[in-house]
Amino acid sequence: MANTDLYMIYHGILVPRISHSEESLNYHEKFTVKDDDIFSVTYPKSGTTWMQEILPLLLNGGDLTVVQTIPNWDRVPWLEETRASSILDKIPSPRAMVSHMPYHLMPQTFFNSKAKVIYVTRNPKDVLVSSFHFHKMASFLDEPGTLEEFTDKFLAGNVFFGKWTDHVKSWQNTDLGDRILYITYEDMLQDLRGVLVRILTLLGRQLSADALDRVVDHCTFKNMKTNTMSNYSLVPQNIMDCKKSSFLRKGIAGDWKNHFSPELDAKFTAAIQEEMNGSNISFPWDEE
Ligand code: A3P
Repeated sequence: MANTDLYMIYHGILVPRISHSEESLNYHEKFTVKDDDIFSVTYPKSGTTWMQEILPLLLNGGDLTVVQTIPNWDRVPWLEETRASSILDKIPSPRAMVSHMPYHLMPQTFFNSKAKVIYVTRNPKDVLVSSFHFHKMASFLDEPGTLEEFTDKFLAGNVFFGKWTDHVKSWQNTDLGDRILYITYEDMLQDLRGVLVRILTLLGRQLSADALDRVVDHCTFKNMKTNTMSNYSLVPQNIMDCKKSSFLRKGIAGDWKNHFSPELDAKFTAAIQEEMNGSNISFPWDEE
């Protein structure tokens, strides 16, 4: 059962009360999307913060000032969260936003707009591990229990933003055509520069080789970890306790191998496969 002190239920999905309210969800629903808006959509723990670093840099020619002076949640806000209404009017276009919403819950005006979307997917086993540690350090989320207990909640969708499989399936079956770019967290780890070029192409923009190098360097895990505007160290310890786990924790692919028992792996793999059956969606990590 969901802890309703911590979560609201929005169209069957748990959303944390700390950052969502009736008003913010109403604002999200009624939001007027502009044709030059850019959304980065993620299931939580798939690379949201990374995109909040990357997008402003690509949009301003690689000038580091914004990412060094404005916290990630204000420079690329979540459309559904409480801060959005006070920020989005002030952000000059093209505006970059993030969202954890499944496709069908995007605002009505989004569907008739030309707004672009970058959908980031991550190996769900690493999402689970990242989320498990995040639940330990974030007082606004349920206690995760053991990894096995948390896995049951995750697979049942009894975690913030529901089932990973529902989220991924919703965004892989859209009518958005060339308005949407699919990237993976693993692609970004392997070839960040290449992914940035793909994003620039989607946005119809270019960056000089020097500027691109600067963005790639700034957006490495090591460098983002020390950026106080991005590493969540500005959040009070009673809300996010960095002593329990850093927000920018490991930043690698395959950490699940350090956490999953063979039994857990078999159970998790079978459950995800069953949900994805018939969807025609495959990922590089399916073969692992
Ligand atoms: P880990 O907990 O596995 O380290 P989100 O921003 O969607 O909540 O996702 C958080 C995850 O993205 C964390 O994963 C975090 O470390 C990782 N991350 C953020 N910036 C990153 C970067 N520059 N390089 C690699 N991973 C990054």
